Amino acid sequence: MKNDKKIDKSTIFNDLFDNTYVGILVVDSNRNIILTNKRCYELFGYQEDELIGKNSSIFHLNNDEYLKFGEVAFKHVLDKKPMSVNFQVKKKDGTLFWAKISGDPIKHQEHILWTIVDITETYKIQEQLIEQSTLLKTVINETPYPIVLKNYNAKFVLVNEATAKLYKSNPDEMIGKDDGDYIPDKEMADFFRKNVQEIMNEGKTRIVYEDSIDVETNKVKHFMSIKKPFKNKDGENFILVLANDITELTNKNEELIKKEKLLFQQSKMAAMGEMISNIAHQWRQPLSMISTAATGAKLQNELGVLEKEELNNTLEKINLSTQHLSETIDGFRNYFQKDKKVINFNIEDAWNETINLIYMRIRNNSINIIKEIHTPNIKSFKNEFIQIFMNIINNSIDALSEIKEKRYLIIQSESTDNEIIIKIKDNAGGIDKDILEKIFDPYFTTKHQSQGTGIGLYMTEEIIVKHLNGEIFAQNIEFEIDNKLQKGVQFTIKLPIDKKL
Ligand SMILES: Nc1ncnc2c1ncn2[C@@H]1O[C@H](COP(=O)(O)OP(=O)(O)OP(=O)(O)O)[C@@H](O)[C@H]1O
Ligand SMILES: [Mg+2]
Repeated sequence: MKNDKKIDKSTIFNDLFDNTYVGILVVDSNRNIILTNKRCYELFGYQEDELIGKNSSIFHLNNDEYLKFGEVAFKHVLDKKPMSVNFQVKKKDGTLFWAKISGDPIKHQEHILWTIVDITETYKIQEQLIEQSTLLKTVINETPYPIVLKNYNAKFVLVNEATAKLYKSNPDEMIGKDDGDYIPDKEMADFFRKNVQEIMNEGKTRIVYEDSIDVETNKVKHFMSIKKPFKNKDGENFILVLANDITELTNKNEELIKKEKLLFQQSKMAAMGEMISNIAHQWRQPLSMISTAATGAKLQNELGVLEKEELNNTLEKINLSTQHLSETIDGFRNYFQKDKKVINFNIEDAWNETINLIYMRIRNNSINIIKEIHTPNIKSFKNEFIQIFMNIINNSIDALSEIKEKRYLIIQSESTDNEIIIKIKDNAGGIDKDILEKIFDPYFTTKHQSQGTGIGLYMTEEIIVKHLNGEIFAQNIEFEIDNKLQKGVQFTIKLPIDKKL
């Protein structure tokens, strides 16, 4: 029984010899193969009996390589010095692979035992790693965005070309330095340091809007920087800063704001011009009435036939007309005053006031107005509504004045739980499809220079969208009045009821 349990070492070694992952090869002093294990002949794609007795040159690419291996490895081991090399070797089918070959002299014999491990995969991974890190370096250096890695003291650990360019330096030179070494503004450098330390302490990524100075041009640049703090495996703090140069964008934005202000100014001027022409219309009648009455009275007086009663009548007429003049001017003055506060009013009030302001134009062009207003009172800026209506109505009048048929201008309004919908349409024929897309663009006009600037509808949309949180769109529609098909454009305005103003 006891003997059964005895371990047979030679069996185990035999097993190990053939089942190990490592290829084993024994050669004599002439480099002829004496012994291989299973892994070895499989590794090279041979059968066992194909190898014994052959020269180990069959594993090499060519004779030069065979000799080279002899110099660097074989002779070395033959001198009783174990060693290991990575060498490219050849399979039976001619394909090559990288092997880690380690040699040991066999005691008391002129033989060498080689162990061979296929390291092709490791080699590939290594090569990939090198390739990837080169790629990463290229990306980091080629990107136009400054990328910087700083340690807790805000010293540069990694810097890309874009950053170096900004600081008129080169990436390697900058390592170990900080912003203060480059920008003259100490306060700015101090801010950069404190800011990154704060973020590292907090441990949260932050987006920071900051300015820096292009050392080369001495110009201020605006950046939107993403700052991402992290710790390495030893717990040391680092921060990655990715800066996005938004200088151009910021400048453009400022330009845009300036442009918008100008547009607003221009639209006020245009409206003013329109108003003055409206005032001229409105005043023509009362003025001529005053003038007629005054001339009449003067003539009668000169002829000595002016009765006291007649004079009183005339003065009364003049007085009434003057009042009318004064009322119209008040109306316009109110319209030009900016809304200071939100008031409670009905869409109909704003519509009526608008119509009053341009009544003469409407009458002179024989326009029939139809009102179907079914909306509750709202709290908003009334003058803005008047301005919106004024722009839309003036456009309709312009278009309607060109048609021969009976002219209509229709306002309809209704409301749902959360919005008010106002529709204003005319029967002036509508707008061409390709023009329709552009009517809200600033300066788009189909009118003569003296008639239109093309900002009426642009301003209208601005007020509705930006001030009143609503929307406006235009479409061509057909509808019926007096059993006749009418064609025109309809403006739909939608306004939220529960808006916060
Ligand atoms: N009711 C309408 N019928 C036909 N075309 C219209 C109508 N309303 C607007 N348009 C077209 O839309 C264009 C743009 O209108 P918008 O009010 O913005 O500018 P404008 O009237 O030309 O000039 P402004 O209002 O600055 O004096 C007009 O030139 C016109 O071609
Ligand atoms: Mg207009």
